[in-house]
Amino acid sequence: MAVVRAGIPPATLQQIRDAIDIVDVVSRYVTLSKVGQNHCGLCPFHEEKTPSFTVTSTRQMFYCFGCGVGGDVFTFLMRKEGLGFLEAVGELAEQGRVTLPQRPSRWASPSQSGQRKRLEHLHALAQAWFQRNLHDSEKGKQAMAYLAGRGFGPDIVQEFGLGYAPPAWDGLARYLIGQGASLPDLEASGLVVSKETQGISKADRHYDRFRGRVMIPIADLRATVVAFGGRVLEDGTPKYLNSPDTPLFHKGRCLYGLHKARAASRQLDSLFLVEGYFDVLALSQAGIPQVTAPLGTALTRDHVSLLRRFVDKVVLTFDGDVAGINAALRALDVFRDSGIAVTVVVMPSGHDPDSYVRARGAEGILALRDQAPTLLEFAVTQSLDGATHETVEARTRRVDAVLSIVAKGSNPVEKSEQVQRIADRLGVRPQLLLDRYPTLVGRQRSVVSPRQSEASASPSRIRHHDQKEFREERECVWLMVQDKLRPEHFSALRPEAFQSPLYRRLVETGLHRLNAEGRLDVQGLIDDTNTDDHCRDVVAELIASQKDFDDQDEYIQGCLRALERRHLRIRLDELIGQLRIAERERRTDDVSRLNSRIEVLRGEKAGLSGSTTSAPR
Ligand code: UTP
Ligand code: MN
Repeated sequence: MAVVRAGIPPATLQQIRDAIDIVDVVSRYVTLSKVGQNHCGLCPFHEEKTPSFTVTSTRQMFYCFGCGVGGDVFTFLMRKEGLGFLEAVGELAEQGRVTLPQRPSRWASPSQSGQRKRLEHLHALAQAWFQRNLHDSEKGKQAMAYLAGRGFGPDIVQEFGLGYAPPAWDGLARYLIGQGASLPDLEASGLVVSKETQGISKADRHYDRFRGRVMIPIADLRATVVAFGGRVLEDGTPKYLNSPDTPLFHKGRCLYGLHKARAASRQLDSLFLVEGYFDVLALSQAGIPQVTAPLGTALTRDHVSLLRRFVDKVVLTFDGDVAGINAALRALDVFRDSGIAVTVVVMPSGHDPDSYVRARGAEGILALRDQAPTLLEFAVTQSLDGATHETVEARTRRVDAVLSIVAKGSNPVEKSEQVQRIADRLGVRPQLLLDRYPTLVGRQRSVVSPRQSEASASPSRIRHHDQKEFREERECVWLMVQDKLRPEHFSALRPEAFQSPLYRRLVETGLHRLNAEGRLDVQGLIDDTNTDDHCRDVVAELIASQKDFDDQDEYIQGCLRALERRHLRIRLDELIGQLRIAERERRTDDVSRLNSRIEVLRGEKAGLSGSTTSAPR
């Protein structure tokens, strides 16, 4: 089940990796020195004084123990130069004199990729045309005055490439046709609309989508313009008109201004998520470039995955009138399992970030941010809606919707923290919530302390957390990735014994990557995990982690046994919990069934701790 990344066959990627040494590539940016089997240096992705950036040449991987970023040579170049995967492959293929297969097969067929290029060109031409119309035409003066009236000066207009679409019927279409554009491309670009009405001559069937509007170019992460938004001057409907989805542009996957926010600082600390174009412009102009907005759609999980690549903290801004429980629950669900720490700023009634920043300046909105509650707190508060004198039972019922979203989460550590938080807020014991929602228990072991719970703030800190919580599991995955396990070990390695979804996934992937002799194809495992940021970083980390021990075989046996023991203990805890509930509810059949299950497991567990020589099964 090889993953074909963006249409480049694994064999070609391997050819490039063989032709290029990651140590050479990294050395162009970082001074490396040899430490043990690795090369180390100062991380190019975050500020540091002592080297924690590590390159393992045997596996052609890098990892930074400071900021938690890792991957192969392609990932390195993508991060360092801000390239897309295909661009990084192209660049390294050239350096290694590897010829790429004619066309990346899955990315696009030849004519499609040719079309993309042509559509990008059309957008560039259109943007220049809109800008000329804003700055040089008589009508453009009105648009300029409108922008000035909203407080936007020439600098921000220039920086964001704003333009103007004059009210004429087909000015842009004529211009683009004059530049050699074809009608099918014009239609595919979304810039021109065609009319199917009969009786109209062919030449008159096409007109500009955007007329009489301030034009806002929308760029992708490469800063290439792929769509436009247009706002009417003053009042009118629709207030905003956006490009339709096209081969270049899918609005559910695009965030306005993200490429600029990212350029403002490589690793964004926190990012304001606002609702509209003008909020982005206003915050940027006020000196807060870390801001982005969806394009007139609700936030999707695709948006969140995009954000995850750059940020670990997001500040949601809700307009006062929409800041209800529904908005909170929706956000809680979309950000679930993202590892992003989300806080909520509610705009005072009648304000949006644009108007607020104009009234109170950057300090005003930053002050709101500094007091912002977490999204979870906000959701709970909204659910309670001021209720204080109700019974515990009634208050608990009010947070049902929040609990059922939390219960869907797949990270047990995060879940138990959240349960703890909600319980604190309600003034009840966490157990009360756990009894109410069995799925909240999931596979977690215990509720962690509030101090530990800070750990969920960033993906890299979650990893450190995992190190303690899932030590046995991590150790086994380390052995696997370091190619230390032999066929007999693999037959003792059971994915069900893993509580951490991440480590379980890695083990499952590894088991799929055993060759006919039962040995692991480590490069295959790396390739398979390369498309998921979190998996890739963890694999890179485990590869970079070196360790020595005297008796390797004894060590491996010990790890496998510890894993099995821990698994049994967790199963036992679960069953005992179920037993207590069954006893309380006097379900005698269940009680005796659970009792005998528990007996069996206790026996197994005793057997395991007793023997030190036999491998666990
Ligand atoms: P709002 O109606 O809140 O407008 O729409 P706004 O951003 O405050 O705009 P100004 O300040 O009046 O200029 C928020 C976002 O919803 C999308 C746009 O992306 C807009 O920025 N929208 C709104 C549309 O796509 N179409 C519309 O007709 C209205
Ligand atoms: Mn507004």
